[in-house]
Amino acid sequence: MFSLRINGKTYSVDVEADTPLLWVIRDTIGLTGTKFGCGMALCGACTVHVNGEAVRSCVQPISRVAGKEITTIEGLSPDAQHPLQVAWREGDVPECGYCQPGQIMAAAALLAKNANPSDADITREITNLCRCGTYPRIRQAIHRAAELAAKR
Ligand code: FES
Ligand code: FES
Repeated sequence: MFSLRINGKTYSVDVEADTPLLWVIRDTIGLTGTKFGCGMALCGACTVHVNGEAVRSCVQPISRVAGKEITTIEGLSPDAQHPLQVAWREGDVPECGYCQPGQIMAAAALLAKNANPSDADITREITNLCRCGTYPRIRQAIHRAAELAAKR
């Protein structure tokens, strides 16, 4: 049995110690905003925050994250008004949308430590894949979110 803190709530889950966090988030808890892509830490579709850091939840055994603060896309803001969410809507960023929760969570972790990232910072830090090729709009939206956050 493991005790997890997800989006400010505590959950007790009865799973094997090596169960990936992504499985628990989606199948045990039922939060399906976080997506499964590759299962090998390659694509970033499963990105969540653990103690504020962006991590790929498909390769995080539950035993490693028990007791830490986990945030999923559902918990990024209470009202979908995080600057990134506003900028994403303004910029009409998604195509199919599948990769987008992971992109936003990766971007949120970047902005939390670097309020005004350069293009080079974004290229280095956001390594999530998008099969639809929305990279230019993602980049614009991160810059826009930095502007919006600075005005708040
Ligand atoms: S599903 Fe986790 S990185 Fe692709
Ligand atoms: S929007 Fe389709 S994979 Fe990124």
